[in-house]
Amino acid sequence: MPRKTTISLIKCDVGSLAGHYIVPQPLLSVAEKNLKAAAKEGLINAYYVFNAGDDLQLLMVHEKGESNPNVHKLAWDTFKEAADKALKLKLYGAGQDILKTAFSGNIRGMGPGVAEMEIEERGSDPIVVLAADKTSAGAFNFPLFRTFADPMNTAGLVIDPDMAGGFKFEVIDTMENKKVVLKSPEEMYELIALIGTVQRYMISHVWRARDDLICAAGSVTRLSQIAGKYVGKDDPVAIVRAQHGLPAVGEVLVPFMHSYLVEGWMRGSHWGPIMPVGMKDAKCTAFDGPPRLVALGLQIANGKIACDDDGKPMIADLFDDPAFDLARREAMEYASMLRRMGEFEPARLGPDEMEYTTLQQVLDKIKERFKSA
Ligand code: 13P
Ligand code: 13P
Ligand code: MG
Ligand code: MG
Repeated sequence: MPRKTTISLIKCDVGSLAGHYIVPQPLLSVAEKNLKAAAKEGLINAYYVFNAGDDLQLLMVHEKGESNPNVHKLAWDTFKEAADKALKLKLYGAGQDILKTAFSGNIRGMGPGVAEMEIEERGSDPIVVLAADKTSAGAFNFPLFRTFADPMNTAGLVIDPDMAGGFKFEVIDTMENKKVVLKSPEEMYELIALIGTVQRYMISHVWRARDDLICAAGSVTRLSQIAGKYVGKDDPVAIVRAQHGLPAVGEVLVPFMHSYLVEGWMRGSHWGPIMPVGMKDAKCTAFDGPPRLVALGLQIANGKIACDDDGKPMIADLFDDPAFDLARREAMEYASMLRRMGEFEPARLGPDEMEYTTLQQVLDKIKERFKSA
């Protein structure tokens, strides 16, 4: 029997330094301490703590399967402890994404974002972890489509017979809370019809069609719907498997050679350009952005993350590379164009999304003054 290994990436904004800029070191240290202890006890086999802007990211590898109550509780307790510390330090938005209080076995729907994937380890299993700040899960629709469905992006769809059968996409309708599976290439147009509506339909899983091999899992939540009001954007994460009958790591990354527009940015209320960055630049500044994206490369090995000679997990900082300078430059050009438009649409999001922001209070104030025109 091939070994079954689970990759769990659970993230939460627990509070940040200087507004919504970064997760500061004392909060990362809480996560490091707790995950180290959990690894020692044998709950998890390997972990890596990092941040994407103001979102604390817990990457955990274990053999307990998806939605394991103990693994989820470890994340929940860690976020609560870090949020308490943020509160003591009077950091900004302490406990921002902790929207529910009583934990009952699964962290989904409580505020934090979750992407999980149980895999049967192949001979070698390269993984790309994507983590974004100041945007929502719909931001991954476009690059995931390009990676798994666009033969102009992914040479393997044309050249590798193992991919010829195409891929299946699970799409969540976040308004109706329903899901549908569509297969590319046969249903590519219907797929685009849905996932082109990035604010509503979001890709949650991708499988290789010929054998249902799991290839990608994303975190799909709508914090505003859990909370009923604006509480920050969802700042999504995704786990993507690569190579050997799947898109190559380079085919997962090439969609990010150019910037594109995503919803989020300042007050989660604007269209902004995605900026792929190395971990050192995963921090949002101008107009709380532009929305940043990091990509980490790792190898799953025997239920763990492949480690160096000192036993430390080897993590590749994939966007820390001049190959993405062009996208970063484009992002700043688009950013300056959009900011010149100020609060006029389409720079600002449309009315449906703005319902969940404080704009409503401003409109309520003048409601009574409207007369028939
Ligand atoms: P505050 O009203 O708390 O400043 O929230 C707005 C916000 O966080 C946007 O950056
Ligand atoms: P986050 O969702 O990253 O906390 O950002 C909130 C915000 O309002 C940024 O302006
Ligand atoms: Mg924040
Ligand atoms: Mg954030």
